[in-house]
Amino acid sequence: MNYKIGDILFTREQISTRVIELSQEIRKDFIEFHTGQELLMVGILKGSAIFIADLVRALGQDIDVRLDFMVISSYGSDTKSSGVVRIIKDLDAYIENKNVIIVEDIIDTGLTMSYLLSILQRRAPSSLKVCSLLNKEERRKVPVFVDYCGFEIPDKFVVGYGLDYSGKWRHLPDICVAEPV
Ligand code: PRP
Repeated sequence: MNYKIGDILFTREQISTRVIELSQEIRKDFIEFHTGQELLMVGILKGSAIFIADLVRALGQDIDVRLDFMVISSYGSDTKSSGVVRIIKDLDAYIENKNVIIVEDIIDTGLTMSYLLSILQRRAPSSLKVCSLLNKEERRKVPVFVDYCGFEIPDKFVVGYGLDYSGKWRHLPDICVAEPV
């Protein structure tokens, strides 16, 4: 099936406002519970690239923020339902005793995040939280607690602001619905 770019679901202005709000929530919690410590923001590529870039720039210079990234890919259709993912690029640094926030563009079935959380939890971080720009709660197959959520969305295929269709349209500034043609 082929798709075209359809209606805008969230404009760039709505995204910008919400990303700054999320950043301020993270900042507030961090100052309250972890003052003086390091905050490691972990982007899961490729979808989170644009979101994390905007998110971290609103955190403020008085917080000791570090960035790291993981590249993951699913093993294939047979194992897709298990959520087991292959780590293509792991974190550069150890996270033991660190405060970690995983940053995703979207949580859908929850399988990827659930698996990622289990991997990273075993590395004994001091704290481990989840921040996702979009959340499709109605598609959930396994429960995932999202500490910081940008927008709840219906079960629609969305593109833009990091989200792709076959590698395309990640660069769109707005989040749009992709429609079959
Ligand atoms: C998307 C998203 C999550 C995953 C969520 O990644 O970034 O990693 O799917 O789906 P789930 O909740 O059903 O497991 P995708 O595989 O599209 O890769 P990308 O980030 O490179 O676009």
